[in-house]
Amino acid sequence: MEIGHKIVYLDSVDSTNNYVANLVKLNQIEHGTAIMADLQTAGKGQRGSVWLAESGENILLSIFLKPDNLSVSHQAFLTYFASVSLLTILRKIGISASIKWPNDIYVGNKKIAGILIENSIKAQQINYSILGIGLNVNQLNFEGLNATSIQQEMGQFFQRNEVVFMLFNEMNKNWSLLNVQAPTLKEKFTSNLFQLNELKTYQSKEKRFDGVIRGVNEDGLLLMEVAGELKTFDLKEITFIL
Ligand code: BTN
Repeated sequence: MEIGHKIVYLDSVDSTNNYVANLVKLNQIEHGTAIMADLQTAGKGQRGSVWLAESGENILLSIFLKPDNLSVSHQAFLTYFASVSLLTILRKIGISASIKWPNDIYVGNKKIAGILIENSIKAQQINYSILGIGLNVNQLNFEGLNATSIQQEMGQFFQRNEVVFMLFNEMNKNWSLLNVQAPTLKEKFTSNLFQLNELKTYQSKEKRFDGVIRGVNEDGLLLMEVAGELKTFDLKEITFIL
């Protein structure tokens, strides 16, 4: 079954990710089904944050995915899959974006898309994944947030449906790469990392320090060169200073 073979459109929902989770409980969803909403009343971001989006302007999307034989230790490939697919369609639209580790999509210093992946694990395998994507399409006013949209970058209105079908198409091309954990997927992710190979300042729990992002390790953790030494960081251990 292809990604996007079935699309459910909702006017308003608490969170499209929650909506998928409910369908899973009811056993009423299959691989590739997508849920889209005009508005979320409790949109979820990473690390318990909220995802705000003006009604009807942006893509608020969740996809139910059942990877073949993806072990927990390779779960970062879901992140690579989603970010690389987003990056590719943005490039086709004419926007050069990068991936702020672990999975925010940035244009310059502004966020254009966020990804929230919620996995269910069974016997050390990804049983299923709820891939949530918020992609700013036509919103122009972000009220002080460090964000942008496709329209803001390109100076013209975009049909959300056209963008979403481009995304499904790209994901269907990349799906087989995810299932074999193809190195090319990881390489594309790594080579498009925000601030890759640049000396920048970061914040850890204890201090500010200068470092150079060099890529990600086998587990998808950030690899950074600090004072000539290669270190790994997980999500809670590092903040970007923009
Ligand atoms: C982040 O950058 O913090 C992740 C944002 C993810 C937002 C999307 S919008 C559609 C889906 N439903 C949610 O509740 N969240 C994701």
